[in-house]
Order: sequence, then structure tokens, then C-alpha cells
Amino acid sequence: MAFKVTDKVTWVGKIDWTLKKFHGDEYSTHKGSSYNSYLIQDKKTVLIDTVWLPFAKEFVEELKKVIDLNKIDYIIANHGEIDHSGALPELMKHIPNTPIYCTGNGIKSLKGHYHQDWNFVQVKTGDTLDLGESKLTFVEARMLHWPDTMFTYMSGDNILFSNDGFGQHFAADPLYNDVVDQEELYHECIKYYANILTPFSSFVTKKIEEVLSFNLPLNMICPSHGVIWRDNPAQIVEKYMEWANNYKENQITIVYDSMWNGTRRMAEYIGEGIREADKDVTIKIYNASITDKNDILTEVFKSKAILVGAPTINKSITYAAIGILEMIKGLAFKEKKAASFGTYGWSGESPKIIMEELDKAGFEIVSDPIKELWNPDEKALERCREYGKAFADKIK
Ligand code: FEO
Repeated sequence: MAFKVTDKVTWVGKIDWTLKKFHGDEYSTHKGSSYNSYLIQDKKTVLIDTVWLPFAKEFVEELKKVIDLNKIDYIIANHGEIDHSGALPELMKHIPNTPIYCTGNGIKSLKGHYHQDWNFVQVKTGDTLDLGESKLTFVEARMLHWPDTMFTYMSGDNILFSNDGFGQHFAADPLYNDVVDQEELYHECIKYYANILTPFSSFVTKKIEEVLSFNLPLNMICPSHGVIWRDNPAQIVEKYMEWANNYKENQITIVYDSMWNGTRRMAEYIGEGIREADKDVTIKIYNASITDKNDILTEVFKSKAILVGAPTINKSITYAAIGILEMIKGLAFKEKKAASFGTYGWSGESPKIIMEELDKAGFEIVSDPIKELWNPDEKALERCREYGKAFADKIK
């Protein structure tokens, strides 16, 4: 499959409708994904990025239907991660001397992955490549989201090839932002930002400000995953600026794990207390053992405050609870408030352990932890309701 994006630009990537997990099991892709590769045919011919390794052979076969591979003058590797560079070894068997343009860190990354001494050309921000009628300008985008990442801007068509930035794991056909389901698109965009880019938000803000300062006309953003932003591409740039600025909505998320439903009951009564204190706040409650972890993290991203609960087991907390807390810590959320809770039978360490983990993760702890012995009775549940009320009052 290939399709024309403009007279000069052809999409030659792969739509992966069946992908359910990405980065091993680190990211759930309920809606599949796409690996977008772009062929520019001007006086010179350029291939921007390739596709994920399992699709390498079919990528090259499909590409041959669009262009004689020997006519490719340059390859641009905006990012060395395998989902974009995975077909390079197969492609380079056919055109071994074709120069590969990438950052210095890109060379390290590609050599690290493939151990090949290809014809690398190192580029820096502001370097250009003349294609005839159009020109490519490279912009290093370190830590968006790897040290090697760069953007490539094409003058004439005024396209920003942004690699992972502004992308989503979203299989769609047609692959354009204005024709897909807008709710699905928004959800996949914010999930992608929350789960991949949150730790790099300060880089996001600086890089967008830098690119905007160039005053380049922008007709389209062509990322390496998901839809091409051809209708009002500035909308996703504006969203990124908003999300990068310690984003939060009027939402409180309660995440818990439970062995015998006691901690679940605590979660629900804490939620009732929050509702009594605040009629407007959105409350969401998730069981970390049941709900997809990346969906939970997206809700944490949207929240102004969270409560995390788990029962005590072996003087510690449950597998699902420590897993989600570790992921929360890694994403380095900012300006969010938190508290913790849990049931216990005898030693009762879990709420304190959770509180310490949330503190390490950078959350402001606004209430001492609450714990309830065995299965919470009516009095215990009333204490949870009061706890929720007090928590909501503190974060209003
Ligand atoms: Fe889509 Fe960082 O690779």
C-alpha cells in the first residue's frame, strides 16, 4: 500500500491493524498503529524513515513497486528506534552506499542496533539538503523522545516530518486527521503524550518555541505513527503546548488493587466522600489489576489529584499496585496531589509504602494515609467517606 500525500510526497509505510502491545508490554495499542515512511520525489529522491523490523521484507517489496530503489539518493533517519529503522538492514542490502542522514546520536543508535558501517552523514539543527525545487532542513529534537530524535522540514510543500512527535498509535485508513473519528484520535493522542512524552515536557515546550521562532509556513505535519495532520496542523502543536504545561483537568482518579474487595470498598466510599465535597469534579476509579495500565496512566495525566490504595501483603503491597506506582514515578508528573489507603489484617504497611512511593514520584501528599482492619464495616466505610470529603476540600 502507498498513497500520494502531495505531488512530491508519497506515504510508503505500513498500517499495523493487529498490534496490541508496543515496547514489549510497556504500551497497549488498542487501536493498532502505523509506521509511516515517506518518499519524496523531487530532482533528488529521498526516503524518510522506514518501518518496524517484522515488516522489513514487505516494506522493501512494496517500495520497489513505487520506485526503482537505485533512484533513492538519500535516506533520512529521523530516529533510530526499531519501529522506524527496522527495515534499514533489508533496504541497505539493495542500496548499500546510499547516504543515511541522521544526528550524531542517531549514528550511535543505528550502529548500536545493526552493527553496520553504513554511509552515515551527521546533521545538526539548521543543516539543509537541496532536493531541486524543495529543500530539507533538519532540526535536532533531543529527548523527543530519544537523544537521537530529529525533525525534518520540507520547504515548498511546507511539511514537518516530526517522527514520534505529534504521533499516535492509531491504525486508520485514510490516514488523515480530518477524516478519522475525532474522539478516538484525541484519545490516542493524549494517551501517547501521557505515556511517552510526559517526562520530556520541558523539552517539548522549548522545541516547539524554537521551531515556531523560525516562522516556517506549515501545511502539514507528517509524523511516523498515526494520522497525517493536513487539516489545521497547528491544533496538535497547541495541544502539545497545553499538555507540556503540567496539564490537569478537574478530575480525581482513584487507583486501587484489592484481594478480597475491602480496598475496593474503601476506594468507592472515598469516592463518595469526594462527591459530597465537590459536586463538579470528575471522579474515576480503576482497579490496577483489571484496567489497562496505560489507560490508567492517561487518566492520572488528566487528574489534578490521585488516591492510590492496596491491601498489605507480606509487609508490602500487591504486584499491580507497585507496578502502576513504578510507572507513575517514571513519568515524572508535576503539580499533582495525592493520598493513599488500604486494608490490612495484621501488619498494615501498605498505605504508608504507597504514600512514600507517591512522594518519591513527586506528588504532594495532602492527607495522612488511611488504613482499615480486615473487611471494612459501616463505621470504617464512614471513615473512608469522611476521608474523601477532607481530601477533596484540601485540593479545591
Ligand atoms: Fe516510534 Fe521512538 O519510536
